[in-house]
Amino acid sequence: MTQRGRFITFEGAEGVGKSTQIALAAETLRATGVDVVVTREPGGTPMAEAIRELLLTPRDEPVNEITELLLMFAARAQHLHGHILPALERGCWVLCDRFTDATFAYQGAGRGVPEERITLLETLVQQEIRPDDVIILDAPVEIGMARATRRGELDRFEQEEIAFFERIRACYLARARRSPQRYHVIDAARPLDEVTASVTSVLDGLR
Ligand SMILES: Nc1ncnc2c1ncn2[C@@H]1O[C@H](COP(=O)(O)OP(=O)(O)O)[C@@H](O)[C@H]1O
Ligand SMILES: [Mg+2]
Repeated sequence: MTQRGRFITFEGAEGVGKSTQIALAAETLRATGVDVVVTREPGGTPMAEAIRELLLTPRDEPVNEITELLLMFAARAQHLHGHILPALERGCWVLCDRFTDATFAYQGAGRGVPEERITLLETLVQQEIRPDDVIILDAPVEIGMARATRRGELDRFEQEEIAFFERIRACYLARARRSPQRYHVIDAARPLDEVTASVTSVLDGLR
């Protein structure tokens, strides 16, 4: 029987280097013979990517925080059952750019949705499924925002104020402190090669 793959998520606020580090991590793992699937949230399947568009497009209409929360989990249900779980069952390692920790951070700490409501949906959509490992790229908000701004136009989340991202950062760090065996916090304010070395060392520890 094929051994189930590992489910690893990359988390952190805007511009900390998630997409950059996921691509490098996939390369490193593939070079050592691991089958890797790289994916992202919200999104990861055609339908979930359509929901992503709905979520990220800046719009004049105020977006109710429960609408946002339900859309996140609607996309997640589709992605998890249609893409992530089948890949894990084939033995692939799944590297996912954001997952449910981001919902606790953005919709919970960011928007103020009570944690219990998010937990309710987490159970509905995921049952017992949780990432095996969460890599949190942590950097001061100003550093991440400066990198994200250099990257190009800002989406609906990236247009939030600094305090919103301070709450997100604090939430990620608090969640990491609660489950230190599953969460790996990496200082992402450092130069790219140093951050990459830290991610590689975490991945080495998982093999
Ligand atoms: N450690 C780093 N130091 C400087 N720039 C970085 C670093 N990591 C990533 N970048 C750059 O910052 C920008 C945002 O990185 P990205 O990987 O897109 O972040 P995220 O996916 O977390 O929003 C990109 O232009 C990327 O090349
Ligand atoms: Mg990214």
